[in-house]
Amino acid sequence: MTNVMKPGMARIFPSSTEVNERVEALLKRMSLEEKIGQLNQVGGAEFSPGPKAEDQIRRGGAGSVLWLNNTTRFNELQKIAVEESPSGIPLLFALDVIHGYRTIFPVPLAMASSWDPAVPEKSQSVAAREARAAGLHWTFGPMLDIARDARWGRIVEGAGEDPYLGAAMAAAQVRGFQGDDLSDPERVLACAKHFAGYGAADGGRDYDPVYLSEAQLRNTYLPPFEAAVKAGVATFMSAYMDLNNVPASANRFLLRQVLRQEWGFEGFVVSDAFAVGNLVIQGHARDRRDAALRGLKAGLNMDMSSYTYPENLASLVADGALSEAEIEEMARPILALKVKMGLFEQPYVNENLLEQVVARPEHRQMARWAAQRSMVLLRNEGGLLPLKKDLQKVAVIGPLADSMESTEGSWMVFGHKPAAVTVLQGIRARLTGAQVTYAPGPEIRRDIPSWFEGAMAGFTSKPAQTPEEGEAAFQAAVETARAAELVVMVLGETDLMAGEAASRASLDLPGRQEELLKAVAGLGKPIVLVLLNGRPLSVNWAAEHIPAILEAWEPGSEGGHAVADILFGDVNPGGKLPVSFPRKGSHAPLYYARNLTHSPEGSPMYNPRYWDGLPVPLYPFGYGLSYTTFEFSNLKVSAPQVKVGGSLAVSVDVTNSGKVTGDEVAQLYIHQRWGSDSRPLRELKGFERLKLQPGETKTVTFHLGPDELRYWSTNTGGWIQEAAAFDIWVGADSMAKLHADFEIVG
Ligand code: NOJ
Repeated sequence: MTNVMKPGMARIFPSSTEVNERVEALLKRMSLEEKIGQLNQVGGAEFSPGPKAEDQIRRGGAGSVLWLNNTTRFNELQKIAVEESPSGIPLLFALDVIHGYRTIFPVPLAMASSWDPAVPEKSQSVAAREARAAGLHWTFGPMLDIARDARWGRIVEGAGEDPYLGAAMAAAQVRGFQGDDLSDPERVLACAKHFAGYGAADGGRDYDPVYLSEAQLRNTYLPPFEAAVKAGVATFMSAYMDLNNVPASANRFLLRQVLRQEWGFEGFVVSDAFAVGNLVIQGHARDRRDAALRGLKAGLNMDMSSYTYPENLASLVADGALSEAEIEEMARPILALKVKMGLFEQPYVNENLLEQVVARPEHRQMARWAAQRSMVLLRNEGGLLPLKKDLQKVAVIGPLADSMESTEGSWMVFGHKPAAVTVLQGIRARLTGAQVTYAPGPEIRRDIPSWFEGAMAGFTSKPAQTPEEGEAAFQAAVETARAAELVVMVLGETDLMAGEAASRASLDLPGRQEELLKAVAGLGKPIVLVLLNGRPLSVNWAAEHIPAILEAWEPGSEGGHAVADILFGDVNPGGKLPVSFPRKGSHAPLYYARNLTHSPEGSPMYNPRYWDGLPVPLYPFGYGLSYTTFEFSNLKVSAPQVKVGGSLAVSVDVTNSGKVTGDEVAQLYIHQRWGSDSRPLRELKGFERLKLQPGETKTVTFHLGPDELRYWSTNTGGWIQEAAAFDIWVGADSMAKLHADFEIVG
């Protein structure tokens, strides 16, 4: 292959004028069919509908290919595009590289638990380097949907419930994937998805309609997307569902008004898979032709694999329903990105590069570091953790203890081969002289299987255990635990229990896991519970009876080592929850930034909301323990009053009051006491993760300016900052008690 980009080769930095000139020159020589072709994303998987990929590419009818993960094939298809299609425009190869390509990082919800934007930024830069070495140009991430309903399976793919934390993680992921130069051969284009509101699906049921007021949208659901635009994200993906009765893929308000007019986004928008064609099924478009017209008019550039655009756009132009200029408007940003990436100069990938790149030891090291920083210590009664290193007989129990798939987590599709260090392996590697026994206990599985099991390569369904087999596995697990001096239980949810089409009504531990936990606890041994899961779980019994609980999430390739690093005290955990943990699935949606009411907690008229159990979180947003203790003191606000539009500084001292070095996340929350609209009783507006030696104190300073103090008001119909009094709390989680106040004056 010629034109292969080699590491170290000079990069191309085309100026925007040069890019525009090249795009206009291309458009001049392209036929209408080719322009429409750029708007067509072809499925490369076996299950993809539509004509043969080669045929579409050869006639200039394809702008991009997805669901293909094969380096040799990329070059073959690219050769057809570049050498055989009329205008020789290279293809963009796209795939879901959500938290790693070969080296797998913690799932995004876990990375958000680090409260350290360097974790997603560095992790996604490795993901980009590996994916690009495989021949991919574009990933469908980051997923930026705020999720306040833990029943919603896709909560695992995002940064949790909070817009401020979500915005920080969004920008970090965009920087990680894209770097600061789109022609960098170790980076890929990022895609901010799913625009917008998808996380607020009715009842947490994936794909169900979403109803959000403009104030909820703008104050809560859109900030991570706007942060991605500010960070330079190249592409967006529209969401599947109806937003206030208008499908997101045909939603002019989102795609034209907010994204392009207000935020000035210059990249392109791809639909979610088959979503343009599905406008018919969704009850919005009369037929596929109408669907294509609605999508394009709304500002949707690229049709992901429904073929509605290539089938209908030319005849819509012929009939005068659309102009060729409108097609060009949609094709322009796609071509511009291909120019900016340097694809015309280097369309091919070196087929020997991937194995060299994935062998770089720093990739695995980074995965271990990211996993260590993402784990959250939920309980540590009596200082059971860290464990002593001279243990002689440890039992590791549970269906996830040796599951590579559940250690890697969601989105490991399209030929990915699981290769994670499991918790069992991690503990065995640590306790080399000791006896480490293992029993999985009864299997866990979904009541209704995932369609991923059938549709996607890489998943094989095993026959279900019979009740007798399950019982035998249960007893074997108890006996294995009985013979040990200490038990590590590894429980939670499998990789297919969270993610797309993986919502559930209950947040309990699935299957017989809690029963097993109780039986093992009944043996009276010290027990540590390690949770592997992609959503909050209502582990109420464990929270009262199991002395040590570590939330490890789905920690990726090095997950088992990272768990062992923390359990044995080589690493002091410092992660914090990016989501509230409800006590029951029926308490969802549950989030800390709710509004006050006429009967708030503590008032004489307080109504507990439900009479069958308080809907307070089991673990609050921002929560997480350490092997040391911290104190917050000396909270200062730079001025008691500030004018509308002004800024102030808030500082606090954080002291490590314990005996070992550790990390604390200082968190700043504000509350506007009155105004045009009611405001949440707390909103995160600043955070910083700090490392402190025993006895050390650091001062953290937060900045509160117009961006932090404004909000979108229903009553005034716009963004406002108002004269009002504000509360401030700073501390270790969203229940922080250290308080100050200030006033904004007109
Ligand atoms: C459907 C999912 O909703 C989306 O997140 C993903 O990127 C596309 N399919 C492509 O695989």
